Amino acid sequence: MKTGIEGLIRENILALEPYTCARQEFSGTDATLLDANESPYDTGFNRYPDPFQRELKRAVARVKGLDESRLVLGNGSDELIDMLVRVTCEPGRDNMIVFSPSYAMYGVCGRVNGVETRVLDLDEGFEPRWDALLDNADEHTRLIFLCSPNNPTGNRWSLERTRELAGRFNGWLVVDEAYMDFAEEGASAVSLLADCPRVVVLQTLSKAWGMAGLRVGICIADPALVAYLNRVKPPYNIGSLTQRAAIEALADEDTFHARVRQIVGERERLFRAFSRMAIFSAVYPSEANFILVQCAHHESLRGYLAANGIIIRGRHIPPLLAGGLRVSVGTPGENDRLLTLLEQWKRP
Ligand SMILES: Cc1ncc(COP(=O)(O)O)c(C=O)c1O
Repeated sequence: MKTGIEGLIRENILALEPYTCARQEFSGTDATLLDANESPYDTGFNRYPDPFQRELKRAVARVKGLDESRLVLGNGSDELIDMLVRVTCEPGRDNMIVFSPSYAMYGVCGRVNGVETRVLDLDEGFEPRWDALLDNADEHTRLIFLCSPNNPTGNRWSLERTRELAGRFNGWLVVDEAYMDFAEEGASAVSLLADCPRVVVLQTLSKAWGMAGLRVGICIADPALVAYLNRVKPPYNIGSLTQRAAIEALADEDTFHARVRQIVGERERLFRAFSRMAIFSAVYPSEANFILVQCAHHESLRGYLAANGIIIRGRHIPPLLAGGLRVSVGTPGENDRLLTLLEQWKRP
């Protein structure tokens, strides 16, 4: 039986001879490239992108204050969630733990990969039941997916309880921080990585960085796990145009901070306005860029807004979230329009 990190990696990945590209052996800039069956004619895109995403990783590492050896970049964090399942779980034998309500893709990736997915309900405060959590785990539990701030509830999960769980759980504890840029500073589980090699943090350029259309997800993990993830990563998973645009965006941190401030300010304005509206039976504080509300006539409200050109997300997840609706924070003008429509709505 394998111990340490190797004991938590799927056997076929441990044995895998990864795909290699001839260009890995060359680091200069002035070569005649006859290795990859590309077109020799310069279209701007006739060459495959850098499979190691070196320049983009440098930019991410600089902005996040991290070492590049801890990074794996994915075609969105959705690709990284799938890679984590594939690298760590043996289908038909291992299992993983996810929560409800939370981001649904963890469970989808588990099921697609034939990995038993154990779904635990959050408590009334929308946090995992930390003390009882590991009662649902066994020696084949390879992954637990935490989401902080959680989608769709918007609350952050305790970093202290996360640290404590990491000390007790002999598997990979994945903390998805897609929305962490909108939360309080210093709340990230990245601070746990130095002491807890089995903690894995996911972040993304899709939310606060405003680049959902580019598809860049960031996995921050122990370099040993990074090496295994890189074995299964398709070499060209991030296109050249995406790499270039992301590097450019990451160079403008002032715009990033200004937009985050604006969204957080608008989130608080929406929260105050929603809280005064009798149509909602609950309005939840959020540390993300969306707000969760509950409304008895949720279907009717969603239909009314859609008929008026505003799409919000239905999150009716009983028993905890009956009539749940998730509203993303828009521009001040979009939010004004939403508030006006809500005030004019005639309940059925
Ligand atoms: C919690 C959470 N994680 C990950 C993602 C996916 O992010 P990406 O665009 O990086 O694939 C989302 C998207 O909504 C999300 O809510």
